[in-house]
Amino acid sequence: FATLMLWAVVGYGLGSIPFGMVLTRIMGLGNLRQIGSGNIGTTNVLRTGSKKAAALTLLLDGGKGAVAVLLARALASEDAAQLAGLAAFAGHCFPVWLGFKGGKGVATFLGLMLALAWPVGIACCLTWLAAAYLSKISSMGALVSAVAAPVWCLLLGAPMATVLAALLAIIILWRHKENIARLRNGTEPKIGQK
Ligand code: G3P
Repeated sequence: FATLMLWAVVGYGLGSIPFGMVLTRIMGLGNLRQIGSGNIGTTNVLRTGSKKAAALTLLLDGGKGAVAVLLARALASEDAAQLAGLAAFAGHCFPVWLGFKGGKGVATFLGLMLALAWPVGIACCLTWLAAAYLSKISSMGALVSAVAAPVWCLLLGAPMATVLAALLAIIILWRHKENIARLRNGTEPKIGQK
């Protein structure tokens, strides 16, 4: 039990690093809270106009989820890996450093799924790409990909990750409630729009 708690803390610590916030600050791109949706993730970093900062945010926010899973798996167990991934996701959404007001977890979800069960991770990324390409809307990619994740777990031979994927999907849906409201009334911006 102590080992699992330790990995929950490590995962949370990694996940709580708000890379989008840090990068835009360092690169002098302004305050994310005053840009676009005010969110700290890749989609909103792109609204600063810097593709480089957005790509780095995607890589690092995804990477922290993957690193949490891979570290816990290498040094502890598969259970610890799942818990560390969930904790990293929670850290991104509810970081203590930002008064628990964090992001929507999409990049971290993709990174941790890639590390947990790579075929599922790849399927989730492709689902995101397809839905985002068709709609030109980032949150649409996120919502479709999150809902598809537990189904991909069952179809692609990773049933042990299904419960975690379903839990992540529920949190992602909840974190996107403002996006869902905008999607419904047709005011959700296209990717790259301010
Ligand atoms: O990953 C977050 C994305 O799905 C929506 O971001 O800034 O448009 O709310 P945003």
